[in-house]
Amino acid sequence: MANEPAVGIHDLSFATTEFVLPHTVLAEHNGTDIGKYHHGIGQWSMSVAAADEDIVTMGAAAAAPLVRRHGSDGIRTILFATESSIDQAKSAGIYVHSLLGLDSATRVVELKQACYGATAALQFAVGLVRRDPGQRVLVIASDVSKYELDSPGEATQGAAAVALLVGADPALVRVEEPSGVFTADVMDFWRPNYREAALVDGQESIGAYLLAVQGSWKDYTEQGGRTLDEFAAFCYHQPFTKMAYKAHRHLLNYCGHGVDEDRVSRDLGPTTAYNSVIGNSYTASVYLALAALLDQRDDLDDRPVGFLSYGSGSVAEFFAGTVAPGYRDHLRTTAHRDAIDRRKPVDYVRYRALHEHSFPTDGGDHPTLADTTGPFRLAALRGHKRIYETR
Ligand code: HMG
Repeated sequence: MANEPAVGIHDLSFATTEFVLPHTVLAEHNGTDIGKYHHGIGQWSMSVAAADEDIVTMGAAAAAPLVRRHGSDGIRTILFATESSIDQAKSAGIYVHSLLGLDSATRVVELKQACYGATAALQFAVGLVRRDPGQRVLVIASDVSKYELDSPGEATQGAAAVALLVGADPALVRVEEPSGVFTADVMDFWRPNYREAALVDGQESIGAYLLAVQGSWKDYTEQGGRTLDEFAAFCYHQPFTKMAYKAHRHLLNYCGHGVDEDRVSRDLGPTTAYNSVIGNSYTASVYLALAALLDQRDDLDDRPVGFLSYGSGSVAEFFAGTVAPGYRDHLRTTAHRDAIDRRKPVDYVRYRALHEHSFPTDGGDHPTLADTTGPFRLAALRGHKRIYETR
């Protein structure tokens, strides 16, 4: 609307885990041809959380650099998106609020709709800033993706957190109107409260994702959105990076463009760099795609990028964001690469033990193994309470 300030992503930072499992190790264990992982699904390694890491420690580690750079003035809301929640009542964002020492004059809430939750949080944040352009909203997307051992989904696990500082006159991306939205009641992927690992119908989930791509795009165009050719790049939710390719080809076909593979690579190529070595980070995935895009392309000043956020169950949203001129002066490329490079490779036995690790539920005092070298850790479970500490 005329005279309204631009609102969007002012800063972005991500964190991932202490450990990493290369897909070569998984392939050796289960006898899969490594070509299936590297080229079939487009994954090279997956982040593996240490016993003292979780969505809170990753979320705090992602958000701390934003608070260090910008201070906490004006942050009156924290929206924490996750589908690997650690508590049925208390928001994980309150632990992050405490670890970062933020002001008590803050509202904190957790949001859930599978991998789509962070986009809901971003859109709600934009609305809050439009209401009060002086405030900034901290959006945190943090997830640990877990499937059954030896299941087809296992190779698509991962973990990461992305923190977005949303405000007026953003330095990175101006979020545009309109949005195209789509909801369908499907059982493609879900996790009942009594399970740690998700249940999934893999092929059904791919079909549901593609249907949601065309549904949200259709709504986007009906709301008066841009044409496909206007976009400089596309950030898709990436449960595995080849899914973004499937989705983009589907969209091109749906729009009657035909599929030109050079165009597909140009539109998507740089967006897969982080997801291909981190794995599925659920809510964080589409914003890891944005981080990789901004960190690698230097020609995006004032150019629109398309975002397709999908969450199983299912909800999807297509929206555009215009990259702010001078965005390259505000990036955290070195820190992002360090977060990936500092991970320690684990062998299959260690990975399996971490996968099967769970805390006793007796309410006793259970210190964790001091595993992570990250800035925050889950130190213990005591009387059914999670005890976090700053290193
Ligand atoms: P699968 O069924 O074992 O694999 O698991 P496949 O047989 O379909 O093979 C995968 C690809 O590798 C195929 O390529 C093969 O041809 C190829 P495509 O035909 O699809 O182009 N391939 C090879 N390529 C090179 N060399 C070889 C070779 N062998 C095979 N030797 C599946 C795949 C995705 C089903 C599985 O990983 C899975 O269940 N993943 C979890 C579910 C998932 O990620 N779904 C994606 C859409 S749903 C979504 O995005 C939401 C989600 O993030 C959750 C949320 O919203 O919260 C999951």
